[in-house]
Amino acid sequence: MDTSAPELPSPYEQIGGASGIARVVHRFYDLMDEDPGYAELRAMHAADLGPMRASLAGFLGGWAGGPRDWSDANPGTCMMSMHAGFTITPETARQWIQAMERAFADCGMAGHPVALLMNERFRMMAGGMAGARLTGDDGKA
Ligand code: HEM
Repeated sequence: MDTSAPELPSPYEQIGGASGIARVVHRFYDLMDEDPGYAELRAMHAADLGPMRASLAGFLGGWAGGPRDWSDANPGTCMMSMHAGFTITPETARQWIQAMERAFADCGMAGHPVALLMNERFRMMAGGMAGARLTGDDGKA
């Protein structure tokens, strides 16, 4: 009798692999770049968002169960510690979460279980980075 667990698709595969993640990440930075509602968050980032697009897509891909290239290139990097050097307020954390939720929605994944789970985790991480508990659909503190 085969007692091995069935192979379930990883979260990475469920949201379309590298191209699915790239679409969400590009939408996220396009929103950050174009919507004045994210101006404070945008101002924290370098003028050229190209390196960030590649880095966030690489990080999220590995985080969701895809290729580990990002962590191989950044061994031992803790996302929380990496952000400790930035001044992250509850408002900029709220902007980050809201832009990411919108990016998933704009890519047709508003109610996707993986998107819901990832956004819930982002809210916890962003709250930790801002030293605040962020609740609600729009990440309001
Ligand atoms: C709480 C709100 C957040 C703010 C305000 C914020 C801000 C920043 C800033 C200012 C940078 C550097 C940008 C640059 O050099 O141009 C950065 C880098 C980065 N952030 Fe965030 N961040 C937030 C949340 C997150 C979360 C939740 C994640 C992951 C799920 C994340 C992943 C990354 C990655 C992968 C990088 C690039 C690291 C590198 O390649 O050096 N950030 N973030």
